[in-house]
Amino acid sequence: MKEVTERFIANPDFTKEEFKELLKCAEDPEDAAYLAKEAARIRKERYGDKVYTRGLIEFTNYCKNNCYYCGIRRGNLHASRYRLTKEEILDCCADGYELGFRTFVLQGGEDAWFTDERMTDIIRTIRESYQDCAITLSIGEKSYESYRKYKEAGADRYLLRHETANEEHYRKLHPSNMSLSVRKQCLYDLKKLGYQVGAGFMVGSPGQNADCLAEDLVFLKELQPHMVGIGPFVPHHDTAFAKEEAGSVDMTLFLLSVIRILLPKVLLPATTALGTLDPKGREKGLAVGANVVMPNLSPVKNRKQYDLYDNKICTGEEAAECRGCLARRVESVGYHLVDERGDAVL
Ligand code: SAM
Ligand code: FES
Repeated sequence: MKEVTERFIANPDFTKEEFKELLKCAEDPEDAAYLAKEAARIRKERYGDKVYTRGLIEFTNYCKNNCYYCGIRRGNLHASRYRLTKEEILDCCADGYELGFRTFVLQGGEDAWFTDERMTDIIRTIRESYQDCAITLSIGEKSYESYRKYKEAGADRYLLRHETANEEHYRKLHPSNMSLSVRKQCLYDLKKLGYQVGAGFMVGSPGQNADCLAEDLVFLKELQPHMVGIGPFVPHHDTAFAKEEAGSVDMTLFLLSVIRILLPKVLLPATTALGTLDPKGREKGLAVGANVVMPNLSPVKNRKQYDLYDNKICTGEEAAECRGCLARRVESVGYHLVDERGDAVL
């Protein structure tokens, strides 16, 4: 056992250099297991054996951005585009509510068709129909004013992965019209407006090194988000990164443990990308500190079109099948899915 793992558990308030030292422990199964055990203990202490579930509604794959890693970026002319109508979105919520979901996540590309007026109309209708549910948005970078309008209409939470906290790495992953400072500002704006905020990053994205990951951890420590979404990078055949290697499942699991210890009350999903690279990826994620799963509520006819990366799982099943499958997976590692909003414990 390395001394640094014990030091981190005793006081996780690490500097960048200390995080870099800690990251080296990912290669040592004994250290990784030790951190995983501590992460599972903390997770149990805060959340018992509950796993929160979010119904993911992927409502548009139109996007004005051109993030180099993403299968639905604007420049991918092979992507088959769709957007759901308000009625279709509400149908997804109705199905989800029936199945026990008490959080709806509206996720999509940055699609100009969904003006603030259309978004607030949708949010307001969901808010009025499902007063006991949380509404989470994940629709990218918007102005303070737009975020304010969504909040006022009834949105509670916002997921916006920072993607990487390292400037140089950010530029490798995004075209020059996007910037890390804007991304970070959005997260601070969302916090200021009273959203429960989720940041996060891909593990093993092209050009990522120990410096980047250490900076991600320092940034998370500073931001103190309510949620952190991390999953392995998975290449998409129609992107510039088609030939790049996928991220490591083990490194993702290691980082899940580290984040649970760093931010004990955080909401931490075992992501679809993790389940895509390893058939037991999500179960493994839950066992090392994750406490959220995000099954798909999108209409089956559109699921394959929300094609962020190759071989994405859960694109053929009905919502009920997805939830049932996940419920069994969650039980298999000793936890259980609950029909609750699942806010972060304070
Ligand atoms: N447009 C919104 C945004 O930018 O936050 C939400 C949609 S975006 C597709 C959601 C997340 O998918 C991104 O934050 C990114 O981390 C993840 N993602 C995109 N391409 C990916 C890939 N090739 N492998 C793994 N995750 C990917
Ligand atoms: Fe916009 Fe991926 S580039 S959602």
